[in-house]
Amino acid sequence: MRHFHYKENQLFCEDVSVQEIAEEFGTPLYLYSKQQLIENYRAIDSAFADVDHITCYALKANSNLELLKILAKEGAGADAVSAGEIHFALKAGFSPSKITFAGVGKRDDEIEYALKKDIFSFNVESIEELAVINEIAGRLKTKARIALRINPDIDASTHPYISTGLKTNKFGIDIKVAIETFKYAASLPNLLVDGIHTHIGSQILKLDPFIQTAQTVVAMIEELRREGINIQHIDFGGGYGVTYKNAIKHPLLPVEEASNADETPGNNAFITAVLPILKQAKCKLVIEPGRSIVANTGVLITKALYRKDNGVKKFVIVDAGMNDLIRPSLYQAYHQIIPLTLNNVENEIVDIVGPVCESGDFFARERTMPLVKRGEYVAILTAGAYGFSVSSHYNARPNAAEVLVNGDKVRVIREREKIEDLK
Ligand code: LLP
Repeated sequence: MRHFHYKENQLFCEDVSVQEIAEEFGTPLYLYSKQQLIENYRAIDSAFADVDHITCYALKANSNLELLKILAKEGAGADAVSAGEIHFALKAGFSPSKITFAGVGKRDDEIEYALKKDIFSFNVESIEELAVINEIAGRLKTKARIALRINPDIDASTHPYISTGLKTNKFGIDIKVAIETFKYAASLPNLLVDGIHTHIGSQILKLDPFIQTAQTVVAMIEELRREGINIQHIDFGGGYGVTYKNAIKHPLLPVEEASNADETPGNNAFITAVLPILKQAKCKLVIEPGRSIVANTGVLITKALYRKDNGVKKFVIVDAGMNDLIRPSLYQAYHQIIPLTLNNVENEIVDIVGPVCESGDFFARERTMPLVKRGEYVAILTAGAYGFSVSSHYNARPNAAEVLVNGDKVRVIREREKIEDLK
């Protein structure tokens, strides 16, 4: 996250002091770097430069319209999981010919909406869904381009809640019945069977599950071609993990204990590992990265309200809660937390907790970090993905504001909700 850095012990985003932004716009506040977003997108997209491909950004990671507009302008496609996300993608300027529609539970009206918008592909997740799309396409006198999402039963070694490629997960079509399901799909008159889709999970840090999946997909395409089903595109999904620990290093910050399991295999290693395999199928390639494009583009700024020491534990209570960023509560996810201003004080061991009435409302537990006093700000790092997009109004808390930094300019890209806005 090179666009977030300390200058004379003050955290900067690009050319602006984050402390000044926090004072001006208030907290809790999501803050994004435009340059980081563009750099992340280009790094991934350029890794595929020599193949016909679309980098379909997974909107679920962060669907702020202004961020979407930047990606659309870069030429990205969109991976949507609801009619609402297709609507956002179109509004932001993504071409319908670059929109994929995934999800195990597409409603009839959502299918109809997507057909009318003539999107690139439906990533179909069940046999019943095939029949429904065929029926609706027939009624609309059109044909639906589809890919079948295959569940390859491959362990992505990630948190169980975000593992999607195992037999025990609800996603995709069981690999054992994949060929016959493709044949069934090809027999339906209003479907154009165009692709094969996989997405085995999120925050994956090992290369092996991706390599195995790529091999499975290529073998399946060969078999399908022998059966007369000519697959034109592979949608390889997303899931490329990012580094959460030691995202920002500084001599006054404690070094966070990290094992191999916390490290990504390096720039574009995921892509370099699978590309030679996938190329063998001579298909158009689609990928659906979410986190790897936006996670380190954003931070959540929050202010310390109170300190408390009960003799057993020390707590710092901040003004952001699990309703603003649920990842630590839901997945025991680790986010580095750093002060906006580094003073030369010793570290302490604290829990950083929010104001929500749940013991699960925490951002860090037993964390060694610089002492934070009432009124001081901290940044929760790598919060650009699955941060705001998963936020809620729990405890009747209005949504945080979002701002975008571009060089020395700061722009509000979502107004802070007011109490009167709550319905
Ligand atoms: N494609 C499909 C079909 C997906 O379901 C997902 C994410 C992606 C692409 C993008 O995956 P990514 O590149 O971002 O890993 N809320 C969780 C993550 C949920 C992921 C859901 N699906 C978290 O905060 O870790």
